[in-house]
Amino acid sequence: MTSHTASAGIADAKTTKAGAARERIVIFDTTLRDGEQSPGASMTLEEKIQVAELLDHMGVDVIEAGFPIASVGDFEAVNEIAKRLKRSVVCGLSRAAFKDIDRAGEALAPAHAKRIHTFISTSPLHMKYKLQMEPEKVYEAVIASVTRARNYTDDVEWSAEDGSRTEHDFLCRCVEAAINAGATTINIPDTVGYTVPEEYAALFRMVRERVPNSDKAVFSVHCHDDLGMAVANSLAGVAGGARQIECTINGLGERAGNAALEEVVMAIRTRGDVMPFYTGIETPLLTQASKLVSAVSSFPVQYNKAIVGKNAFAHESGIHQDGMLKNAETYEIMRPEDVGVRATSLVMGKHSGRHAFRDKLKSLGFELGDNALNDAFKRFKDLADRKKVIYDEDLEALVEDEIANAGE
Ligand code: KIV
Ligand code: ZN
Repeated sequence: MTSHTASAGIADAKTTKAGAARERIVIFDTTLRDGEQSPGASMTLEEKIQVAELLDHMGVDVIEAGFPIASVGDFEAVNEIAKRLKRSVVCGLSRAAFKDIDRAGEALAPAHAKRIHTFISTSPLHMKYKLQMEPEKVYEAVIASVTRARNYTDDVEWSAEDGSRTEHDFLCRCVEAAINAGATTINIPDTVGYTVPEEYAALFRMVRERVPNSDKAVFSVHCHDDLGMAVANSLAGVAGGARQIECTINGLGERAGNAALEEVVMAIRTRGDVMPFYTGIETPLLTQASKLVSAVSSFPVQYNKAIVGKNAFAHESGIHQDGMLKNAETYEIMRPEDVGVRATSLVMGKHSGRHAFRDKLKSLGFELGDNALNDAFKRFKDLADRKKVIYDEDLEALVEDEIANAGE
């Protein structure tokens, strides 16, 4: 099979083709916090350390290792990860309560670089029913919580939970107050996966324009996938001025999950022609990370999942296989090795064509003459009509049979 020839659209470079500088996007992974909040996805301490070490090695900028006040196990995980990592910033989540923030500060104490992420809901619905707090009390809690977190670190992130459903004037007031109190990252989550790309991009533009000190903080997206738009919304938020993306491996997370790290990273890398950004992620480790998270969370990865699904680089139809054999760029927009997949696979099935069949036999060590190949191909099609998966062993048996019959 021919390999990918051109590198059009592949954005490894720190500058665009026109020579303009690309901007770095901070990748904030929350697999161990929001990801672990998926019902049934809990991980042991050893498993969390394994995941954190791989994320660190992969170049993730910030790893949200847990919610220290939530349980002794979460505290220990954040604390142990804080002791071990040498590269990524280690982050702990806390509500606006002082006891949460102090517990996060304690868990993160040994980290070489630490972040406290404190949040409170700002939408009318959440303030009225969940918090049962008046907006002015929420506003005061924003200032008090960020100020408290600054006792432990200069790296404080503040999140407006349910930010995408928050009234704009109030959101701007809270963001301004959080930055004045010392928050250096401002996250506006789409907590319930409700927004759409145009709206989310406009939200970031509006906040950045209206908040006078907005240039003092990095804005962050945090999108859930309830309507299947978490990745699209995250990229739209970046177009609106956000420079941090919160995401998880395999899109693990509450309900329908969070934006998938492998998808946002590869979208930025592959479509560098229209998005002038880059990340620090070693993309050939993406498949390994996906397999590890799937194994420790016991959440299988769907076959047709973008980037890391079993079928992401597999082709079955004859037309596609023929194209792939002529030039891999006909049906692949990324090189499999760039995400840690050894090679494209041409899967033999009832839609496969003669060209791919001959190529496959050749790879198994069989070179048949035209007549034998035609017979074998016909028998293969009959078999494929009866059998969902055709293994190499099936093909070997079929060809050996063909050769034996030809000798009779
Ligand atoms: O979805 C959300 O709003 C969150 C916050 C805690 C950031 O996970
Ligand atoms: Zn979330």
